[in-house]
Formats: sequence, structure tokens, C-alpha cells
Amino acid sequence: TEANTSAEGGTLRMGTNATFPPYETVDENNNVVGIDADIAKAVADKLGKELEIVNMEFDSLIPALGADQIDIVLAGMTVTPERQEQVDFTESYATGIQSIIVPEDSAIATVEDLADKTVGVQTGTTGDIYCTGDLGEEHVQRFESGVVATQALVNGQIDAVVIDNEPAKAYVEANQGLKILDTEYAVEDYAAAVKKGNTELLDQVNSALEELKADGTIDEIIANYIHE
Ligand code: ARG
Repeated sequence: TEANTSAEGGTLRMGTNATFPPYETVDENNNVVGIDADIAKAVADKLGKELEIVNMEFDSLIPALGADQIDIVLAGMTVTPERQEQVDFTESYATGIQSIIVPEDSAIATVEDLADKTVGVQTGTTGDIYCTGDLGEEHVQRFESGVVATQALVNGQIDAVVIDNEPAKAYVEANQGLKILDTEYAVEDYAAAVKKGNTELLDQVNSALEELKADGTIDEIIANYIHE
């Protein structure tokens, strides 16, 4: 149709924070790679656009959408009611579980055990939001990434890290002496986000995602990175 033709061409600028394996990391050639990059590429292909990936702080992503510095966010971003006031989310394409990382010899075994402890989180994430709400500011230390938070845990500066399950697994694998508790802090939906009111792009991305789900592409991309 006419509308589709006029929407084609150009660049889809995707914002992300590439500290979040296997959704997004930076490879040895300084390219952002992972599930979100692959999904965004597949979506951009459907839209007839070039994909450009912009790597930034996680808590800059929503402001960057608002300022038109990027067109879309794919960052393992959880759909929350607060964020829905600021951006428009697409249909969900994956789920995440807020998980708790502790030293192997830690006495912390449940969510309740975090009560009087110091917990590390990535600034602005749902882990940050939940822990700050549940434990209070004084029990939360914010870091620029889960990687840095996990380093602080290894160094004994904090008692636990609360972060999404898939990056948690990667961080625990990359370090000695850590484990993930067998308890779920929260189960969440990941979705892409566009600027509030950008219904044209929202509809295009939702149609693309629907097709990519239906033909198995999304499952295939996820299975390339997550082996259950
Ligand atoms: N799912 C969590 C959230 O939306 C954490 C996402 C962090 N993503 C990242 N690319 N660092 O708050």
C-alpha cells in the first residue's frame, strides 16, 4: 500500500545498553550483538530500513526516545506501568525473571533474607525499583551495569545482586564463587519501546514481530543464545 511504501527506507536507530548477556553485549570488534540486536535486525529488514545500534546507559534509554535520539529501545526492557506512562511498548517478545546472585557460602537463601542486607543493582532497572521499594534506599547500591555490580559482590562490597536471570547466569559463569538463588523475585515481560504517540512505528514493529513470531524466527533467535 501507499502508506507502507512511504514508510520504507531510512534507518531504524535502536538504543540499548550492551552489558546484558545474552540480550546485548559488545563483541571483540566493538559490535553490539545478542538476542535484541538480532530481533531488531529482523524487524528492520521487514520495515526495509537499515539498523543502527546506539549503546548508552540503561537509564538514558527512555529519555533518548523522548528526545528523538533513537527510534526504538530493545534492551531486555521490562514492561512496567510507570514506563508505560513515558513510552509505548510493543507486544512482548520474551520473559525475564528477577534473580538473586549471592556468594556460594552466603547465608542468604530467600527474598526475605535480603531485608537487612546491601543489594547491588543496575541503575534504573526493575531490580533497582523493586529493591529500593522493598528494602529502602539505604540497602541498595546502584551500579552502571550488572557486570560492575557483580564485581562489587565478588569483592565483598555488597551482599547480593538482583538482576534478570539470563545475565545473572552469564555473570555467575564469568566469576568464581557465586551462585543464583533458587527463588524468583519477579517474573516480567520484555518488550521493545517507541516514543509515546509514535503509533506508526509501533504498528509497524508489532506487525513485524507478529510475523517473526509466527514463522519461528523469534524462537530461533532466542534458541541461538539460550540453551535450556
Ligand atoms: N529487565 C530489566 C529492566 O527492564 C533490566 C534490563 C537491563 N537491560 C540492559 N540492557 N542492561 O529494568
